[in-house]
Amino acid sequence: MVINIISGTLTHLQACNDAYVNSRLGQVYSPPEELFKSRLAEGINKGHIFVAVNEDHQCLGFIWIELRGVFNQFPYCKLLAVKEQFRSQGIGTALLNYFERVSFSKATKTFILVSDFNQRAHQLYKRLGYTDVGLIPNLFQEGVSEHMLMKLKPEKDVT
Ligand SMILES: CC(C)(COP(=O)(O)OP(=O)(O)OC[C@H]1O[C@@H](n2cnc3c(N)ncnc32)[C@H](O)[C@@H]1OP(=O)(O)O)[C@@H](O)C(=O)NCCC(=O)NCCS
Repeated sequence: MVINIISGTLTHLQACNDAYVNSRLGQVYSPPEELFKSRLAEGINKGHIFVAVNEDHQCLGFIWIELRGVFNQFPYCKLLAVKEQFRSQGIGTALLNYFERVSFSKATKTFILVSDFNQRAHQLYKRLGYTDVGLIPNLFQEGVSEHMLMKLKPEKDVT
């Protein structure tokens, strides 16, 4: 499948919402839909959300990037979700590759959080070279710990 990664617009709002809501992550955190959509709209309006689209301009998933989201210095992937029917086709990896391209043009380290129940996403990040640097208990929700993962800019890219 040919996909392009482009800046998200409000026309992608519903698809981004669906990608997140139809996941264990969305079910565990389950923000009220209108609240979640208003947060997404804010991310879109700030230019922080990028979407993967196919040849038909259909939105398949998104990534939310805050370039100084960690310690006001390092890039942070705030959210990543692919629509359920398009998972396991490399779209999440493509969105993460995009995140790293943007991040490593500005910084030497990049960060992501993953919930303790989200082993598949955790494995994906480890496969892509992220390492665990900490565990934060009860961060967003009582009873759920978040692993903090970091990736270093590859040596070959260090100038
Ligand atoms: C986590 C998530 C974003 C990953 O996206 P994805 O598009 O499924 O990821 P990829 O396809 O790049 O890689 C995932 C798997 O597909 C496999 N894969 C990658 N490219 C593939 C391809 N072209 N064909 C078949 N399989 C492929 C990978 O080996 C990987 O294997 P796994 O099933 O053991 O994990 C997605 O599962 C998701 O949206 N989950 C719900 C929300 C969520 O939990 N987000 C993470 C927040 S931290």
